[in-house]
Amino acid sequence: MRPFTLLTTIICECVMLADAHMKMTTPVPYASSSLDNSPLWFNGSDFPCKRRPGMYELEGASNMYALGSTNALNFMGSAVHGGGSCQVSITYDEEPTPSSVWKVIASIEGGCPAQNQIGHLGDDAGTANPYQYWFTIPSDIPAGRGTIAWTWFNKVGQREMFMNCGPLLLTGTGGSQANFNNLPDMFKANIGNDCQVPENADVVFPNPGQYVTRLNGATDAFSAPTGAGCDSAVAPNPTITSQPLIQRAMN
Ligand SMILES: *[C@@H]1O[C@H](CO)[C@@H](O)[C@H](O)[C@H]1NC(C)=O
Repeated sequence: MRPFTLLTTIICECVMLADAHMKMTTPVPYASSSLDNSPLWFNGSDFPCKRRPGMYELEGASNMYALGSTNALNFMGSAVHGGGSCQVSITYDEEPTPSSVWKVIASIEGGCPAQNQIGHLGDDAGTANPYQYWFTIPSDIPAGRGTIAWTWFNKVGQREMFMNCGPLLLTGTGGSQANFNNLPDMFKANIGNDCQVPENADVVFPNPGQYVTRLNGATDAFSAPTGAGCDSAVAPNPTITSQPLIQRAMN
């Protein structure tokens, strides 16, 4: 990249920060200093993980989780776009590429990353989001190093897909690769893959897996994605639980 191009990129990212979206804070993302809060590009070329130069630098990031443990998912920012639907996925690739295999460990349909919001919580990109979510690492998948990702399909506004990633170290014993392979694939839409999420609806994932939380937004409107590129829906539907609304203590 020529110095001029780099400078232009930096300026553009500063402008986008003012146009606040959301950024994952835990799990701790890779290269946090160069991670802006914008979505993936519509043409899909920075999939996965908002790929950019130096993005797999750790910068002190470490996310060590025991198999079977339950862990927090937190965000910074206030442009929540009415919430939407989120997934937590993992790959055993330490530096994911477009061909990495991502499997879902948690699906949150509606109310993520904010609940009961018509639009935005505010316009400050630097405030902690008061809503906290949880995901459980399956106890029967292999231990080892990889990458954990949060993906988000916003409910209100331009049709986008957000994806932030962080380093992952799973500890414990006894898991099998077959159990990992049996988890559903991470859902992808709005990135030039002929699959779209309708606006003003919380997307219902075609194959959310066993660990699904369904939360109401300000409006109760769930919808399947549309397009030939979407994964086909899997039956039977999973048992859906409603996670209690947890408001994080603010300091
Ligand atoms: C994809 O979109 C981004 C952002 O608009 C652009 O910088 C990049 O060159 C595009 N890539 C391709 C392959 O078109």
